[in-house]
Amino acid sequence: MRIYEAADYQGMSRRAANILSAHVILKPGCVLGLATGRTPVGAYRQLIEWYKKGDLSFSETRTVNLDEYRGLGPESPQSYRFFMQEHLFGHIDVRPENTYIPDGLAPDPDAECRRYNEVIRSLGGIDLQLLGIGRNGHIGFNEPGRAFELETHLATLSESTRAANARSFPAGADMPRQAFTMGIKSIMQARRILVAVSGADKAEIVRRAFTGPVVPGVPCSILQLHPDVTLVGDRAALAALRETGARICG
Ligand code: F6R
Repeated sequence: MRIYEAADYQGMSRRAANILSAHVILKPGCVLGLATGRTPVGAYRQLIEWYKKGDLSFSETRTVNLDEYRGLGPESPQSYRFFMQEHLFGHIDVRPENTYIPDGLAPDPDAECRRYNEVIRSLGGIDLQLLGIGRNGHIGFNEPGRAFELETHLATLSESTRAANARSFPAGADMPRQAFTMGIKSIMQARRILVAVSGADKAEIVRRAFTGPVVPGVPCSILQLHPDVTLVGDRAALAALRETGARICG
């Protein structure tokens, strides 16, 4: 595993964007696995800037997102489809038909999970999967305790995840209790994984993820078993990992 430390969120975002853009430049038709949440917003902003300068094109790139709330459609400002449109897709030349996100309004959840697995397979798998980490160790919406061998499935959100994500919903709004998510197995099948972390509130889970035992209680700990993981973080998020003596590049 390679670990890169940046001074702050902006530096971390730039480093993550560098790695994403390198993939797009070296293999324009690559399949990028993308994430939502606070962490990747800065990296997406950087990619948009490079695209606008003419340094980067996504015209052949395919994207598959990790997850989507059940019950929310693309018009809902809290849906992850809406988020991706706002923070990335709407500002670059990626073709809409090349962007894949689970359909939160799918009437038959099992069929939707099967369809999404098939999408990933038909694209030839994921070249680079971008991940954030939840404070409880989740990746995608794979909450602590779920089996490592799952592919796309309907997950029930833990109370801590609902509390953390409530900030994106208007006060008093009924927040979804379930979400479609790629499973750990789908994530682990990506050829490369890029984990981005920022802020002191992630420091402890980052330490446990990469130096603790690999256990379903800490879903992101499975990443220790992936052969090609790059972790980019700001100083605050990597502080506890650094204390363990982990080798960190500047
Ligand atoms: C988002 C996702 C989640 C987030 C995680 C961290 O698509 O799958 O696992 O990556 O909850 O969220 P932030 O970045 O908001 O701290």
